[in-house]
Amino acid sequence: MDEIDRLLDQAQTEIGRCTEPDQINAIEIAWLGRHGKINQLLQKIKNVPDDARKTYGQKLNRLKTAITRQLADQRQRLNKQTDKTPFIDLTLPGTPYPKGSLHLITIAVEEISRIFEKIGFVRVSYPEVEWEYYSFASLNMPKGHPARDDFETSFIKAPADPTYGKMLLTPHTSSGQNREMRRLHGQPPIRMINIAKCYRPNWDATHTPMFFQCEGLCVDKGINISNLKGTLNYFAKEYFGADREIRLRPHHFQFTEPSFEVDVSCNLCHGRGTINGKKCKVCKSGWLELGGTGMVHPHVLKEGGVDPEVYSGWAFGCGIERIIMMKYGIDDIRYYYNGDLRFLKKF
Ligand code: DAH
Repeated sequence: MDEIDRLLDQAQTEIGRCTEPDQINAIEIAWLGRHGKINQLLQKIKNVPDDARKTYGQKLNRLKTAITRQLADQRQRLNKQTDKTPFIDLTLPGTPYPKGSLHLITIAVEEISRIFEKIGFVRVSYPEVEWEYYSFASLNMPKGHPARDDFETSFIKAPADPTYGKMLLTPHTSSGQNREMRRLHGQPPIRMINIAKCYRPNWDATHTPMFFQCEGLCVDKGINISNLKGTLNYFAKEYFGADREIRLRPHHFQFTEPSFEVDVSCNLCHGRGTINGKKCKVCKSGWLELGGTGMVHPHVLKEGGVDPEVYSGWAFGCGIERIIMMKYGIDDIRYYYNGDLRFLKKF
């Protein structure tokens, strides 16, 4: 009989020590299970003298009830404790990282490439670290020619090449013209679009030392200024909008003859230059300067191995940052490169 009281003590201590639901389950099996202690004690009832059997049975029943209740109490206590720790649902998706996006220059480069690819132009890529020859001499600017001064150029401290001259950071994408003509062994048709980084040591609201240019070159039999105008007009309408027009103004470039500057009609005043009798604030004259262009100079064709007696061509070059500014009305080129996400996120 005393043994039963002792067992109740033992069970209480064991249950009280449980910190995990699994431990409670194990105790439940050990005490109340089919082969558990209580059942073993019940089987012993036949050895108990007749007069004590009733009390023995009652004591065992009380032990069973007490253990059952204590197991339930301890379970509840543990549940309450775990309720305090925050519930973590491991199946929920994690917090997403903020999504990146393409830089607006990359977007423009892709857009411009697609526009020219639609009419058969091939996008090419030529070195940024270039030889003097490709950036100047091949473009009808021989050594010592004053036109070279227009392109303030950063030279690289490296041994010069006897044929190609000094090494430099190319100041314009026109350096790709000769490379493209040579790539095709002087055999037109040539329809090149070369979009690349260029370098000139300027830094203000409209210039950064590194900038992007887009160069177009088209050489074939019978190519004339109408083709040039038609292509640039097509580009302006595709890139800026169907209501935009272009115009050519006579200019001088060493590598084209005749040469022009290309303007695009202003999207605010549509080429009129005034709005309700007042000067347009964006363009002042009705037109915005897009870039330079002209018919490829015969010397440039010859240098690329193309026969200028048989073939003719046009070329154009424009700054990517500038045309993006014209499209969206951005007024400071430095926004592109200062990494301000408030600006970059808008594109
Ligand atoms: N390379 C000239 C510049 O950087 C732009 C240019 C003008 C390119 C006329 C051309 C062209 O292809 O025909 O200022």
